[in-house]
Amino acid sequence: MTSPNLGAPPPGSETLRKPLAAPQAPPPADAEAARRALVTLRDEVAKAVVGQDAAVSGLVVALLCRGHALLEGVPGVAKTLLVRTLAAALSLDTKRLQFTPDLMPGDVTGSLVYDSRTSEFTFREGPVFTNLLLADEINRTPPKTQAALLEVMEERQVTVEGVPRPLPAPFAVLATQNPIEHEGTYPLPEAQLDRFLIKVTLPLPPRDDEVRILAHHAGGFDPGNLAAAGVSPVAGPADLAAARAAVSRVQIHPEVLAYIVDLARATRAAPSVQLGVSPRGATALLATTRAWAWLSGRTYATPDDVKALARATLRHRISLRPEAEQDGVTADTVLDQVLAVVPVPR
Ligand SMILES: Nc1ncnc2c1ncn2[C@@H]1O[C@H](COP(=O)(O)OP(=O)(O)OP(=O)(O)O)[C@@H](O)[C@H]1O
Ligand SMILES: [Mg+2]
Repeated sequence: MTSPNLGAPPPGSETLRKPLAAPQAPPPADAEAARRALVTLRDEVAKAVVGQDAAVSGLVVALLCRGHALLEGVPGVAKTLLVRTLAAALSLDTKRLQFTPDLMPGDVTGSLVYDSRTSEFTFREGPVFTNLLLADEINRTPPKTQAALLEVMEERQVTVEGVPRPLPAPFAVLATQNPIEHEGTYPLPEAQLDRFLIKVTLPLPPRDDEVRILAHHAGGFDPGNLAAAGVSPVAGPADLAAARAAVSRVQIHPEVLAYIVDLARATRAAPSVQLGVSPRGATALLATTRAWAWLSGRTYATPDDVKALARATLRHRISLRPEAEQDGVTADTVLDQVLAVVPVPR
């Protein structure tokens, strides 16, 4: 994924000469201000996190779509730092929850506690009662506790003793996980992975970036003190609300819709794939495509927008055949092939 207005299109993508849909009238001014604020968010995050642009973009897209995001990478590639910095750059309430083997569902959602003064049970809110929940190392906790979080993600409310308690809006979970081969982890079930709109993978940094990371540290950067690094809120709930409304107005030509469907269908037919992208996955790609088009300053979506978001939106919705997996095939390999062969509307 590349950054809107900040980078070249992804390799292999073809630029569409003419928009497939006629551009609409210019969006209302507040939406444009929100777009600028959200693009600035990237620069703000860059004050602490070197590189990892695709991950930052993926998280912003997820927020624009009211979706949740999963971040995967080996230890020490700044997964936690990225989410903490993003939270600091957004004036939203945020809580961090470190998932551990002994964490209980009630530690996530909250629970009824007995108040001896009033002799009554009162609900003590868990950390999910926030705008941005950093669910750190989600695959270190057993399935029961994961399930509690995933339920909350879907329903946006906590039900205890039959009483539903709505979560604040906006509400998004940004969860981190180490690749599942690591010892002592509980991989998220496929069906539940689907609840994450996007899965961004954080690669090891290229050499130049790594040198810059060390230069930051040599210059006194303290990851524990983001304010000292100059990170401050540049966008907030009003921007997100205006942005979401504008994203929902992004036009998508029937041919681009059909392209999304063809990509999803091609994943189902791929020989290495056991279970391909579902229609729900295709609708997810429609949503992220529109958000990307809007972030890029357009009122219509192009096949390039689809391509830019296809990997992040679909990679966790593909189950590979065990033989293929043993041969080193990954969901990204499949998606690269699918993107290379499915005809692009022009
Ligand atoms: N791209 C980067 N930019 C700036 N600092 C970085 C970067 N990558 C790693 N670091 C440094 O490494 C530290 C480790 O990052 P962090 O704790 O966020 O990693 P993590 O991916 O969450 O690891 P784990 O999986 O062990 O939780 C950061 O606090 C920072 O000092
Ligand atoms: Mg971490």
